[in-house]
Amino acid sequence: MCGIVGYLGSKKTKDILLDGLQELEYRGYDSAGIAVLQNDDFSVYKAVGKLVNLQEKAAAFDPSGFAIGIGHTRWATHGKPTELNAHPHLGESSYVVHNGIIENYAALKRELQESGAHFLSQTDTEVIVHLFEKELRTADSAFDAFTKTISQLQGAFAILLVTKSEDRTIFFAKQGSPMIVGRDADGEKYFASSDTPLIGKCSDVIYLDDGDYGYVTPETIAIFDKKSNKKEPHFSKLSTNKLSAQKGGFRFFMEKEIYEQSEVIIDTLLGRIFDKEIHFEELDSKLFDGINEIKLCACGTSYHSALVSSYLFERYAKIRVSVEIASEFRYKEPLLCQDTLFVAISQSGETADTLETLKMAKEAGLKTLVICNVDNSSMVRLADASILTRAGIEKGVASTKAFATQVVVFWMLSLYIAKLKNSLTTEQIEKQISLLREVPSVLKIKEGLHEKITRLSKRYLHGHGFFFIGRDIFYPLALEGALKLKEITYLHAEGYPSGEMKHGPIALADPELFTIALLPQHMLYEKSKSNVEELSARDSTICAISPVEFDKADDYIKTSDVRDYMLEFFEMMVIVQLLSMEIAIRLGNDVDMPRNLAKSVTVE
Ligand code: F6R
Repeated sequence: MCGIVGYLGSKKTKDILLDGLQELEYRGYDSAGIAVLQNDDFSVYKAVGKLVNLQEKAAAFDPSGFAIGIGHTRWATHGKPTELNAHPHLGESSYVVHNGIIENYAALKRELQESGAHFLSQTDTEVIVHLFEKELRTADSAFDAFTKTISQLQGAFAILLVTKSEDRTIFFAKQGSPMIVGRDADGEKYFASSDTPLIGKCSDVIYLDDGDYGYVTPETIAIFDKKSNKKEPHFSKLSTNKLSAQKGGFRFFMEKEIYEQSEVIIDTLLGRIFDKEIHFEELDSKLFDGINEIKLCACGTSYHSALVSSYLFERYAKIRVSVEIASEFRYKEPLLCQDTLFVAISQSGETADTLETLKMAKEAGLKTLVICNVDNSSMVRLADASILTRAGIEKGVASTKAFATQVVVFWMLSLYIAKLKNSLTTEQIEKQISLLREVPSVLKIKEGLHEKITRLSKRYLHGHGFFFIGRDIFYPLALEGALKLKEITYLHAEGYPSGEMKHGPIALADPELFTIALLPQHMLYEKSKSNVEELSARDSTICAISPVEFDKADDYIKTSDVRDYMLEFFEMMVIVQLLSMEIAIRLGNDVDMPRNLAKSVTVE
């Protein structure tokens, strides 16, 4: 996820920008850059990869005295992670940094190219600076040109722009993506896309609202709202605690990451969904030539998302799928055939068992694909192709947002293959894409839901075990719910297919056995309901999660009346994550760093 910083003042501009970018590193990025304007002269540095590369490039640069500067860490969406695509982007005499997406960039780019603009990058961002320079030719002032520019942009953005003709001004705009303006004790001005770069530098900050835009100079902070009315700057005091700022006001990283899921899915979808098709810039469709089977390998939570994908690939793409636990696969002497696409799934891209299976598949001459959250990780470097999930850095040991993004990537990939294989009609693909667009809003946690789960959690602190049960893709979700609970509450939990309980586990049923029943209305509702009734008849304590009221349950968490089982999946996912977290909190456990666990398991 991209990050923005800005500074206007007489302190060490380069250090302030680079330090700020460092504070944003935790969000993940694949390139970075800064532009500093001083005495009518721009100094610009960009580098791919880690910030240290940028620091090395800018090592000899040491501006002193008054300067204005902007900086950016980029997580590639439109265009590959290259230096040319890294921000800041240049027009003729202006630079811009931008977070978010300009939805109408293609149309704007065409018009600008027709009127002579020369584009250097593949990004949507570059249209902003060319549009600004076009407006500047006829506008009354640079601010007038900036105002006209942002009024033509559609989509979500946070923008900083600097231009030679106004070398004591930074222009800004915010629509949908976060942007904060800060002021230090000397009245110098700062910008950042989150609190952390500002902590220790500014005491007063303004959290801009959507639609706000304006400019800062050494003397002023001018803010206008979306109706172009001038606003009084409203300053808040900035916390001095970095860790709590990184947690964004949440008690734990896990909690923050659960709440972030709606936002990160927007990143996962960016530039990949169009009205009638799915597009993965990083994939060559030839990867699927001659492929009759997909074999997926992973561990833990990533294994559960692979299990979800097995339903989606067979249902939508009509392709044979097998899913394997990596540590098992390594030693089973697997039969590997050339018509199989081998897919490794990993949040970290470093898990030893999964990495080893990828090596085995490569050695056997299979085509390989990695679904991963970390660019340049060992798996990404090794595989023939990779798709990044774009969840941003996940700090909580118990994986949440990485899982959500993996499932969304698999859903998109199943539609991508369905299109290649003609296994779905255009109308069916269109419908699926319109459902994908609804995921971010389904993932927004509804008012009262978290509070209800917190209240309810007090009844689930004891007992002799939990069963999470579901059918179809709700079975891997049940597995994932049980894994979350085990990891952070240290209580025993199992995930089971609802229809399988009667083949043994139902013997455990008594009031001290807690059943968390996933009962979506759009996937085998009646069948799942009878399975839960069987458990209720044997006195198991039932917590039903469903949009349909269920009178045989002891507890009931109502979900929304959405139009498809995939949307029900994501809402139920959030509920099982929150439930595990609230039980763990009541038990006094360290939610972010549960005992005996590591975030990345790089040993066998
Ligand atoms: C569960 C969890 C682990 C990981 C597993 C694989 O919350 O985090 O089960 O999913 O260790 O890790 P990655 O996905 O990094 O390969």
